[in-house]
Amino acid sequence: MKATELLKEDHATVKELIQSLKSSKEKEDLLIKIEDEIQLHSHVEEQLFYPAMRQCDGELVEHSIEEHREVDKILSDLVGMTGNEKTFKKKLSELEKALYDHMEKEEGKLFPEAEEKIGNQLDQLGEQIESLKKDLSAGGRMAA
Ligand SMILES: [Fe+2]
Ligand SMILES: [Fe+2]
Repeated sequence: MKATELLKEDHATVKELIQSLKSSKEKEDLLIKIEDEIQLHSHVEEQLFYPAMRQCDGELVEHSIEEHREVDKILSDLVGMTGNEKTFKKKLSELEKALYDHMEKEEGKLFPEAEEKIGNQLDQLGEQIESLKKDLSAGGRMAA
């Protein structure tokens, strides 16, 4: 599968997880799952997809990495919460905003640029992303 398609699937998974978080009674576990999912996704983007795109649009790639760090920060505030905290709702909407803005930028700008400029590399990049994700999920906390 093409890298851009794979990454879009990840985005959809994350959005679904966040929707289920709202009605879930097990928010602590789900938040850990969401954090793992997002960190794995950001990691493969930064290791494989962004380096390939840097030559096409270095500025956008740099900006995207900053946005990843912002999302990480909000996530680290949320993990550990049960949903009963006064600040929970506010933090969650912060996460949604940061995340959805970021995904929109990727899907609306970065991915179309990739199709246009490195379209012939996307299948191979997709394979690399899949195998890196598999390796990382097999060990460490991401498997938990
Ligand atoms: Fe990203
Ligand atoms: Fe992404």
